[in-house]
This record gives sequence, C-alpha cells and structure tokens, in this order.
Amino acid sequence: MKLSKRLNQIVQLVEPNYTHIWDCCCDHGLLGTALLNSDIAPNIHFVDIVEPLVSAVESKLQRFYSDTSAAWHVHCLDVATLPLHQYPGKHLVIIAGVGGDLIAEFVEAIHQQYPTLDIDFILCPVHHQFKLRHVLNQRNFGLKDEVLVKENHRFYEIIYVSSQQSSQAKVSLVGDKIWLAANEEQTRLSREYLDKTLNHYNRILQGNKKDVAQIVESYQSVML
Ligand SMILES: C[S@@+](CC[C@H](N)C(=O)[O-])C[C@H]1O[C@@H](n2cnc3c(N)ncnc32)[C@H](O)[C@@H]1O
Repeated sequence: MKLSKRLNQIVQLVEPNYTHIWDCCCDHGLLGTALLNSDIAPNIHFVDIVEPLVSAVESKLQRFYSDTSAAWHVHCLDVATLPLHQYPGKHLVIIAGVGGDLIAEFVEAIHQQYPTLDIDFILCPVHHQFKLRHVLNQRNFGLKDEVLVKENHRFYEIIYVSSQQSSQAKVSLVGDKIWLAANEEQTRLSREYLDKTLNHYNRILQGNKKDVAQIVESYQSVML
C-alpha cells in the first residue's frame, strides 16, 4: 500500500542513529514497514493495543520480512507502558494518528518511567496540538525539528523532540519553524493553517465553553 504524504514525511525526518524505533499506535503497521524497508535502524518495534491488529501485522511480517537485515518486534501493549528498559541503546518513539491529548499522556507516562533516559520522539497528533506542545514545553523537551503537512484537506504538525533539552530550543506553544515558509506555496499553506486554527479557537471563545483566550492570543502573535 502506498504510504501517505504524512507518514512519508515522518520517515524522511528520522535520523540514522537509533538502535530501536517504536512505531506506536501502529494500526496496520504501514509506518514501521516503511522504516524496515528503509533499513534505517537495526530494530523496528510495532506497538498497538488491539490484539487482532497486532496479530495481523505479525503475520504480514513473518510472510514478507523474515529475511531483513533489521530485526522487527511486535507488541500488544498500551503505549504508556513501553518496555524500553528491556532494550539497550538509543530509542526513537513515534506516535502518530491519535489525539494530542492522548499523545501528551503517553509522553508523560514514558518520561515518568524513564526520567534519565535520553529518548527522542516524533509526534504527529490529530487535533489538540496546543495541549501537546504545552506539555512538551513544560517538561523542557528539546526541539529537533517540526514540519507542517496538509493531506486530504487536513493539516498535521509533525513535532520531533528530545526528552533532554541539551542545547536545543524549547518547544514553542504554537510552533516556530512550521510558520517559516520557504516559498509561496508554503506561505499560502501556513496562512491557511493559521486562519483555520484561529477560527477554531475563536468559535470556542465565543461559545464561552472553555477559557481559550490565551491560546487565541498566542496564535495571534504568529508572524507570517
Ligand atoms: C488511526 S490509527 C493510527 C495509525 C498510524 N499510526 C497513523 O498515523 O496513520 C490509531 C491506532 O492507535 C491505536 N491505539 C489507541 N490507543 C492506544 C494505546 N493506548 N496503546 C496502543 N495503541 C493504541 C488503535 O488501536 C489504532 O490502531
């Protein structure tokens, strides 16, 4: 199956220095399979909480990937309980295709379990990007990269971070690099995403359902 633009962009971002890459919430395992094909790390882990999905991924891997140079591992697990301690080496945890609030919970749980481990994460939430960025900012994660992708009329932020800030910048609450367009097409996309996001929060503000005034202010300060 052809890899979506969003998942392909995630694959392109992955740096080649990891011992273990975890495709969390893997569903049919498309992302992990692309990583196996790219031969970018010696170990690719497929993680999902739904047992029949994990079994189907395992059968596919046994059938088509029994002879790869990289090793693959399948886990039927809650992402909040990743057994990183059982696998020595440098870890990259990728979580894509679920809500930013859930991703924030996963990242907090993993960080709490391994407070001193230097773990990298690539995160691509569906909604609640601000909530996720807030948690990454509060936890002093370091920003490695961030990209804005539009696919099927929806926008996705891909946020690449490290659990240890070291010399990297802090994660911005609304994003930095995603607004720095390199050409006219990207400027148009950034503008469209900013308008869409502001309209969303202004609607909430008008409905008085939640106090989102600070979020609106933060997005209003974005310069394009
Ligand atoms: C929409 S799919 C995302 C597939 C792929 N990652 C992507 O970005 O296209 C969401 C997947 O998350 C899994 N999931 C939801 N909660 C989970 C949890 N706590 N732990 C592991 N997997 C979970 C679901 O079973 C489902 O397969």
